[in-house]
Amino acid sequence: MHPEFPIADDIIYLNHAAVAPWPRRTVEAVTRFARENGARGATDYPNWIRTETRLRERLADLINAPSPADIALAKNTSEGLSIIAYGLDWKPSDNVVGIAQEFPSNRIVWESLRDQHVTYRQLDLYKSSSPEADLIALCDEHTRLIAVSSVQYARGLRLDLEHLGDFCRKQKILFCVDAIQSLGVLPFDLTRIKADFVVADGHKWMLGPEGVALLYVNPHLRSELRLHQYGWHMVDHRGDFDRADWTPASDATRFECGSPNMLGVHALDASLSLLLETGIDRIQTAVAERIDLLVELIDLHGFELLSPREPGRGAGILTFRVPGADNQSLFRKLTAHGVICAQRGGGIRFSPHFYTPGGVLRQAIDIAAEDA
Ligand SMILES: Cc1ncc(COP(=O)(O)O)c(C=O)c1O
Repeated sequence: MHPEFPIADDIIYLNHAAVAPWPRRTVEAVTRFARENGARGATDYPNWIRTETRLRERLADLINAPSPADIALAKNTSEGLSIIAYGLDWKPSDNVVGIAQEFPSNRIVWESLRDQHVTYRQLDLYKSSSPEADLIALCDEHTRLIAVSSVQYARGLRLDLEHLGDFCRKQKILFCVDAIQSLGVLPFDLTRIKADFVVADGHKWMLGPEGVALLYVNPHLRSELRLHQYGWHMVDHRGDFDRADWTPASDATRFECGSPNMLGVHALDASLSLLLETGIDRIQTAVAERIDLLVELIDLHGFELLSPREPGRGAGILTFRVPGADNQSLFRKLTAHGVICAQRGGGIRFSPHFYTPGGVLRQAIDIAAEDA
């Protein structure tokens, strides 16, 4: 057992693509913070700000952003995407290109722009053998933005972001990446991907709590996004409460209207310290080994793999079906045996992290195979 993950004996946790367990150090950081609040209130607030600053540094590190000043802390991915979608100045003929099977947060927000006569063009991923080329084929001279998840939540397809980013840069199309299914499990290099916007909540592969998300906006576009939330926190000269005049902060904090989620900040900061200490490359290798083992076991049992097999196409998600089995019943059986997983993309989704022991993967597949 990994010392940071004392997972209860009665469960097999294969649901990091949904909500992850917290590492021990995160539990301790939150406990310490709670005790401090109880005993001293906000007496040592400057220390909290230091933790918040460090979190921005760690998030910048994780995506290779030029500066922590480019990182805003949002409530969640949906809020980040909404800040982008409702910040841009759309023209009636504009279109957005995305994927029909996207997680709802990265679909609904673009669909909602129909009120502004913006069309949302969707690629049917399940009919595409070359998603990047097909996404590009959906673009025309009215395409303003491509919005994709780096890794599809349901079956785990990993997109070639560099390819899409290059295309967008050449065509002057904005590139928006929901990175929630890859940050913390795959390396992410903003300079290579050339994303204009990156959004990701912390509660999946980053092993943090719900309610603190990274929002990166290309600094060149920052002032172009119309703001819809205002407050004391998003201004230059923050904390100078007597000052009558104000301007939105020049850095990414202009997207943070009021008091931060300090509890979440302390938790996510601790979780990221573990990821960065372990090394994302090592984590990627460890997760890939676990996915390879699952694929091997799935093949052995004659299950149907719904996730991509091609090298470079996967991340931490593996979705499968058991031929002849009703998916709902299979899910209930797995849950009853303590296998914490999800029903997604027409199958069962397993999502182990780098610390998941190989033995429990075998156990989970054995349970799926019982009476199959
Ligand atoms: C691709 C993707 N985006 C976003 C989310 C979650 O959005 P939020 O952070 O707004 O809860 C999920 C959660 O499953 C997801 O898989």
